[in-house]
Amino acid sequence: MEKDFIALMAQDRALIEAYLSKAFASESRCADLQEAMEYSLLAGGKRIRPILTLETCRLCGGSPEAALPFACAVEMVHTYSLVHDDLPAMDDDELRRGRPTNHVVYGEATAILAGDALLTAAFEQITRAELPAGRIVEAVRCLAKAAGSAGMVGGQALDMAGEGRALDRGELELLQSLKTGALISASAELGCIAAGGTQAQLEQVRAYAQALGQAFQVRDDMLDVTSSESELGKTIGSDQVNEKSTFVSALGLDGCAELVERLTRQGIDALSGFSDNAFHSWLAGMLAQRNR
Ligand code: IPE
Ligand code: IPE
Ligand code: MG
Ligand code: MG
Ligand code: MG
Repeated sequence: MEKDFIALMAQDRALIEAYLSKAFASESRCADLQEAMEYSLLAGGKRIRPILTLETCRLCGGSPEAALPFACAVEMVHTYSLVHDDLPAMDDDELRRGRPTNHVVYGEATAILAGDALLTAAFEQITRAELPAGRIVEAVRCLAKAAGSAGMVGGQALDMAGEGRALDRGELELLQSLKTGALISASAELGCIAAGGTQAQLEQVRAYAQALGQAFQVRDDMLDVTSSESELGKTIGSDQVNEKSTFVSALGLDGCAELVERLTRQGIDALSGFSDNAFHSWLAGMLAQRNR
């Protein structure tokens, strides 16, 4: 079973890499900008979000290929969020996806613009999906909401405003669910939208992915303390240097491990209405124990 799921993820990843590598091929513009966009986009992230889109499309009765433009749109928004997250004005980190960060290589101005261009390119990709126009409109609304001030950007703003202060549990949960949970939830919802899923399916998928997203960020906070740069491919110890409130500072590592386990169970339970939920259950368990 586990072997089949690893193979499935590799197959999805190959589709995603092929699509992303061609996404800007025909566009001619400032060569430096295009290089900076591709530098971060094609740097070998785990691709968890687009995989979630493809497999949630399958879960809801669609073909994963149909959801590929939606999947790659999420990955573009996610990559832009990382490029900006690493800027000196934000977390000021120098290693990402195993490489020097975008601004270290291309300079701050180009890194900001590369992020801007990845964000807008994402919405262009959504319109390229060969799906009914109504689903495309729904997808645009879903991703815009998850990426903006009511989602990821809002969470990043709370994260920055919270530096140097001990946030309470409620503030921390809100911050984390916005900065990371919103985009992970949108990844799964976009798969359901691409499949033309029902409202009931959409709600179950959302409940699963929100729990998964929260667990993902708690695990991210843990790895910032426990992992190494060679394994993680990004700067470690960054949260402490920036005096961030994280789940580790609030609960300690043992408390975090318990919380990840509880959220993972909660996520898996949310999909009990689907008969073929084995991949999603496995994915949740695998992410709870990830080391990178
Ligand atoms: C890192 O996300 C930032 C968070 C939201 C926690 P990932 O751990 O998915 O990073 P990549 O895409 O694999 O580089
Ligand atoms: C950032 O959270 C989440 C984003 C929206 C990019 P972190 O700042 O913890 O992400 P990493 O640890 O740098 O990947
Ligand atoms: Mg950050
Ligand atoms: Mg960061
Ligand atoms: Mg982190």
